[in-house]
This record gives sequence, C-alpha cells and structure tokens, in this order.
Amino acid sequence: MHTFLYRLNAVLSFALLALAAICIAASMTDMIHKSNPSVDIKVLKFDGLREIYGNDEARVALNISADLSSIFSWNTKQNSWNQISLWDSIITAKEDAVFQALEYNKYAFIDQGKNFRGLSFNLTMYWHVMPKTTMMYIGSKSFTGFKFPDNYF
Ligand SMILES: *[C@@H]1O[C@H](CO)[C@@H](O)[C@H](O)[C@H]1NC(C)=O
Ligand SMILES: *[C@@H]1O[C@H](CO)[C@@H](O)[C@H](O)[C@H]1NC(C)=O
Repeated sequence: MHTFLYRLNAVLSFALLALAAICIAASMTDMIHKSNPSVDIKVLKFDGLREIYGNDEARVALNISADLSSIFSWNTKQNSWNQISLWDSIITAKEDAVFQALEYNKYAFIDQGKNFRGLSFNLTMYWHVMPKTTMMYIGSKSFTGFKFPDNYF
C-alpha cells in the first residue's frame, strides 16, 4: 500500500493544498492593505498644434510625478497605467513606484477632426494593479482645467 507512487501522490496533494492556502491568505491580507497613492500631472508646454490630413494633432510636454509605493503589498505583481494613452509605464518593484518624469506624449495626441484649438481637456492618471492572486483593480486621479493653444503653431 505504501508504495512509492502512493507516497508521491500524497506529497503532491499536500503541496497543492499548501499552495492554495497561501494564495487565499494573500488575498485576504490584501483586502486589509490600504493604499494611499499620490499623483500629479502638469502640462509644461505645448510643443506643437497642427492640422494633419484633416485632424488636429498636439505635442505636449508633461510633468508626471507619482508615489505609488503604497499600492505595493506583497501580493502585488505589477501595475501599469494609462488609457487614451498619452503615456504609460509598467512598474514591477516598489522601489520604482516613486518617480517624476518629464515626458512628451508617448502616443499620438490626435483628434478626429479639427477641434483642439482653444479646447479644454482633463488628464487622468490610471493605475492598474495586477496582484499575484485575486483580481486586478484600477485606481485613478483626474486633473482638470487644461487648455489647448488657440492657434496652430
Ligand atoms: C515637476 O513637478 C514636480 C512636482 O510637482 C516639481 O517639483 C518639479 O519642479 C516640476 N518640474 C518642472 C520642470 O516643472
Ligand atoms: C473635466 O472635469 C471636470 C470636473 O470633473 C468636468 O466638469 C469637466 O466637464 C471636464 N472637462 C472635460 C473637457 O471633460
């Protein structure tokens, strides 16, 4: 009865059970983990506003600062963010979660039409947190009151 295979099976079953228990504990402790991220986005300047093939395109210099370190619990695998994607980044370590970046929009800031001149807009920073176990969640902070230049240049 206590053959090699039987024992191997018992060891493997135990290993799987232990792994499952660890994952559940991770999810449960993660629920009581509080995060308090701080983010800031400033438009430093517009470096171009033009019409190209009937659509407006802008180039904008952003000053993005963030301290997302409180998002990292030991159950956090990585987090990445941004949606209409002027810019994004993936952070996999808590040490990298505090940063300041002076960046031009990484992705095209382009309109469908010619509506940019003088238009107001908001910028929102999203952080997508991808835990090692349990479901991904999203946080965000919006910044309002930005405005395009009135003329092409
Ligand atoms: C960018 O923003 C940070 C934090 O608000 C500020 O300390 C820094 O001076 C800004 N840099 C520029 C070039 O505006
Ligand atoms: C920007 O956000 C403010 C406050 O939520 C809102 O009132 C305004 O309509 C937004 N502007 C645009 C262009 O979406």
